[in-house]
Amino acid sequence: MLIGYGEDSHRLGEGRELWLGGVRIESERGAIAHSDGDVILHALSDALLSAFALGDIGSFFPDHDPKWRGLESRVILEVVLQKVRDNGYRLGQVSVVVMLDRPKLGPYRTLIQQNLALLTGLPEKRVGLTFKTSEGLAPDHAQCRAMVYLEPLPEPAPQRTP
Ligand code: C5P
Ligand code: MG
Repeated sequence: MLIGYGEDSHRLGEGRELWLGGVRIESERGAIAHSDGDVILHALSDALLSAFALGDIGSFFPDHDPKWRGLESRVILEVVLQKVRDNGYRLGQVSVVVMLDRPKLGPYRTLIQQNLALLTGLPEKRVGLTFKTSEGLAPDHAQCRAMVYLEPLPEPAPQRTP
């Protein structure tokens, strides 16, 4: 088995959208970012790359390259999950902690969990979601920490030759 850990944070600003785990959150402020600024999908993608010591998402999608401006985080995660499969592994579990003071995310828990399950191919029971306030320490940021557990793909059955 392999494990990986990733983090991400984005500053919050007015007139921006807030996306978490591929779900649009109703909020006065959103992430200031080149991309959609989805801290869950970024932390998750980094955790997966870290499990294989492949660097981080900036190694594959550098944010100074205009080609990647506005890139959907969902696409980043898809590319990274393909790398996981190419390396002979599959995702077995994710554990995600979001730190955000406002708005309350409780009402979005099921939606985010379902969407993460959809994006990763995991059962919902293998998508752990924790929401925390920063207790005012980081009121202008959305932050995420993510852990992933990966298991080897089953060996293909040996081909029988006649
Ligand atoms: O951070 P704290 O321990 O004070 O969080 C208290 C509760 O508020 C937790 O149950 C958590 O799920 C919830 N919460 C939330 N949305 C946030 C931050 C915390 O629903 N943005
Ligand atoms: Mg607390």
